[in-house]
Amino acid sequence: MADLDTTALLGALEPVAEENLDRHLKAAQDWMPHEYVPWSLGRDFKELGGEPWSVEQSQLSPIARTALEVNLLTEDNLPSYHREIERAFGRDSAWGEWVNRWTAEEGRHAFCIRDYLLVTRGVDPDELEQARMDTMQTGYDSGDKPLLNVCAYVSFQELATRVSHRNTGRYTDEPIAEKMLTRVAKDENLHMIFYRNIVQAALELTPSQTMRAITDEVVDFQMPGAIIPGFGRKAVQMAMAGIYDLRIHHDDIVQPLLRQWGVWELEGLDAEGEAARDRLSDAVGALDAEATRFVEKREERAAKLAARQNA
Ligand SMILES: [Fe+2]
Ligand SMILES: [Fe+2]
Repeated sequence: MADLDTTALLGALEPVAEENLDRHLKAAQDWMPHEYVPWSLGRDFKELGGEPWSVEQSQLSPIARTALEVNLLTEDNLPSYHREIERAFGRDSAWGEWVNRWTAEEGRHAFCIRDYLLVTRGVDPDELEQARMDTMQTGYDSGDKPLLNVCAYVSFQELATRVSHRNTGRYTDEPIAEKMLTRVAKDENLHMIFYRNIVQAALELTPSQTMRAITDEVVDFQMPGAIIPGFGRKAVQMAMAGIYDLRIHHDDIVQPLLRQWGVWELEGLDAEGEAARDRLSDAVGALDAEATRFVEKREERAAKLAARQNA
């Protein structure tokens, strides 16, 4: 079967978008970002006669602060993501309605995390602002990624941010931060379900074309926050802490979605679709092996550290 162009795909999948927008609106609970912020802890900074920021004012561990900052800067870049999603889905029909609803929901994520970090002094506010400016000026740009690739990517990405928020919350060991990030993670999960269901319908509509899109996005996957200044170093810290690492990426993001879509049992693929599935299988196998090596190294390092402390 020949590939469907964007107009044909948007038309054929529009009823699925509408059905899933309705389902989403019924499932989504309204929540207030200000209710997750301990305002009583807030106080003026230096310019208003208060105390300047310094690191010991925060109750959080350095890695918890880094993870919260990475998650916040990722969420801060929403205007770029809005541009990407709007370019792919357009402004009409259920697609356009979803774009606006999704953007409005995403907006809350940065608001509550920023407010939380500022009142608890969990982040250097000057450094945070500089990093936000850098991140947003770099912007997020996937090029002219085709519609099905966008849908596959955001399915993985929403699930990845869900897990990253949830694990960051646990790692803070601070009940308010944990409650806030659990709330944010619930939103990401509902977003993931919307995009996952679109991909599911696309697999039925145009299986080989969709399989190629899924394969491309697994092979090339990068977190949306990859453009944050110092992301590589910060991502390593988060991986070492078990907040987001290759094992989690393989076990909790990639495999569950591929299983849910039934890609391994999918019938009706043409030669290109079969080749894409083979490439996907190789990529997932390589990711699994790399994850195993990473966890082994991390354990070796932890054992060495423990031995040194006991010596
Ligand atoms: Fe978000
Ligand atoms: Fe989301």
